[in-house]
Amino acid sequence: MPQTSVERTWSPSAPRLRPVAVLGTGSGVPSRVLTNMDLEGMVDTTDEWIVTRTGIRERRVVSGEATSDLATAAARQALVAAGVTAAQVEMIIVATVTPDELCPPVSCRVQAALGAHRAAGFDLSAACSGFLNALFTGEKLVASGTVTNCLVIGADTMSALTDYERRDTCVLFGDAAGAVLLGEPRDGARIVDQLIGIDGRGADMILTPAGGSRRPATHETVERREHFIQMQGKDVFKFAVNKMPELVDVLLTRNGYTIDDLALLVPHQANLRILEAGAKRLGLSDDRVMVNIHRYGNTAAGSVPLALDEAVRAGRIHPADLVCLAAFGGGLSWAGALIRW
Ligand code: ACO
Repeated sequence: MPQTSVERTWSPSAPRLRPVAVLGTGSGVPSRVLTNMDLEGMVDTTDEWIVTRTGIRERRVVSGEATSDLATAAARQALVAAGVTAAQVEMIIVATVTPDELCPPVSCRVQAALGAHRAAGFDLSAACSGFLNALFTGEKLVASGTVTNCLVIGADTMSALTDYERRDTCVLFGDAAGAVLLGEPRDGARIVDQLIGIDGRGADMILTPAGGSRRPATHETVERREHFIQMQGKDVFKFAVNKMPELVDVLLTRNGYTIDDLALLVPHQANLRILEAGAKRLGLSDDRVMVNIHRYGNTAAGSVPLALDEAVRAGRIHPADLVCLAAFGGGLSWAGALIRW
């Protein structure tokens, strides 16, 4: 297994003042389903092409909800699972590239909706790696004793950035949120290690050209559909297919584990072929990889925590299991977490 750029990446393993665990998980998805058959009626595509090239059969899209609505639903579930009330929450971090509005932060909307009035909070943006960057940040805040708990949410309404006239992207994305509550371990569970990284040389590979400060929205940018996401799919595919197994291998190796120690890999759900190729390179059997892309597509920052929550609720993660979360995406960015459940 080549260990190249991930090893050189800044991925501090600072001495921990206190261990940190995932106390509860949750997710929130809109009820509206957009199937491949629906897309066949919108662009020049087929169910067969989409399933063969991506593994996606359907995805959820909002009808009126915003990112904070999905995030709040996910957060509520995570709090119930953890047995912690909204009033006890001390920090809320929301990872998203599709905020309800550019201002205020989604975390403020979530705080108000939950009634978590004691909580501080902020948003963070790292595309599909967003949730794991938020987890990285939240874990440091709890480990240092800055706060005793932290709600970490990944939430995206990718349908707002998706051009439903472009077949190369509109088949890929969906809307979802997932959340975890971090806090002091109640048993042997703990976050073992995490890594994050970016390579800005690939910044244009996944791009929403207009609507930001470089090219504010104008009639012209809207007419050219430049406020929608564009992606160099093949190049992103090549990056992801290497990076995902590489970061899992680094996390395992530097903590003295082998692939046989891993109970479940929960990867970012971007393309089934990327997941299968990554699992094969790692020597992981299918039953040790969490896959739900066929029902949700790529939900960006929502993807990893949604898959994690489904795995927990389906009984696929047991106490003391070693679980690895792995993500990659726009930036280019990547991130991973190794968790003793
Ligand atoms: N239906 C039918 N045909 C299509 C469709 C479609 N929906 N989309 C593209 N095609 C056509 C193309 O036009 C092309 O036709 P041509 O050969 O006549 O030019 C042909 O299919 C092949 O297109 P490719 O782009 O080469 O297809 P590929 O096999 O690479 O699959 C895909 C495209 C699915 C996008 C793949 O490249 C991929 O998954 N890339 C990675 C995406 C990813 O991981 N993103 C993660 C980050 S996202 C984020 O961070 C927000």
